Amino acid sequence: MAYDIRFFELNTGAKIPSVGLGTWQSSPGLVGDAVDAAIKAGYRHIDCAQLYANEKEIGSVLKKLFEDGVVKREDLWITSKLWCTDHAPEDVPEALDRTLRDLQLDCVDLYLIHWPARMKKGSVGFKHENLIDPDIPATWRAMESLYDSGKARAIGVSNFSTKKLSDLLDIARIPPAVDQVECHPSWQQAKLRSFCKSKGVHLSGYSPLGSPGTTWIKSEVLKNPILLTVAEKLGKTPAQVALRWGLQMGHSVLPKSTNEARIKENLDVFGWSIPEDLFPKFSEIEQARLIRGGSYVHDTFGPYRSIEEFWDGEI
Ligand code: A2P
Repeated sequence: MAYDIRFFELNTGAKIPSVGLGTWQSSPGLVGDAVDAAIKAGYRHIDCAQLYANEKEIGSVLKKLFEDGVVKREDLWITSKLWCTDHAPEDVPEALDRTLRDLQLDCVDLYLIHWPARMKKGSVGFKHENLIDPDIPATWRAMESLYDSGKARAIGVSNFSTKKLSDLLDIARIPPAVDQVECHPSWQQAKLRSFCKSKGVHLSGYSPLGSPGTTWIKSEVLKNPILLTVAEKLGKTPAQVALRWGLQMGHSVLPKSTNEARIKENLDVFGWSIPEDLFPKFSEIEQARLIRGGSYVHDTFGPYRSIEEFWDGEI
């Protein structure tokens, strides 16, 4: 087992740093300091999205870090995501331009369709009556144009089930480089993982700690007894073991934190590994999806009538 799993190679040939700082639910006012601390601690990958409403603050911090010579733009990996209200092909380039303005960048390293769900243009929040049918092939063609233009150096998707990813691969001129999905020891994505591997799509794991701070989900991921036992044996924290498990499974991990000590802790996952005799223990962990996408499902509005249908049975 290689100790250093610093990068994964995408189907574009680019190398994505294996640990990225998540910024979902990082409040304005805190996210800037978190990005500053992360980059100074050695992170080279920041995971952003227009929805998170904090890209402007991240942009100001990045600008200062470049000006101060702390990091060079070319040494940093920045991901952002197209929000559900901007799926119309003519809105896709505008959405990326907005993100680039906010982040004060000329290009992102990776641009993802955030969800396989669409909402009326300009709508705000998560009202079911705003759900409309997505047209992923049309949106993807607009994403491909962004790739051609160089403003998105790689393109991909997020929250796509195996079936939705497969349907996209069938029509794509440029195959998605990444499917970013919930992934941690208590939701290992076995089916999607092997499909991604067979097709050369990189799986990237959000909520790799099970999002313990999210009030509307009951997350026990970091309290799982198997994880705790392995952590104790290795003298590591449960969070570090959850992240290291992800790297050894072959996916990048995007832990969110706005706390400097935890930001550092979450990058301390190199130079050691979960030994081969302990690794199979993880397959005994009970599986449950935490982020279920209920906002995209309704009896009347949009194309999805149930959570089951939304994830094509992968729940
Ligand atoms: P905080 O920002 O106060 O550090 P995920 O990345 O799975 O969505 O999890 C993010 C949540 O986990 C946040 O609430 C974050 O809180 C918390 N967190 C981040 N790092 C750690 C850690 N090393 N140990 C415990 N909790 C952590």
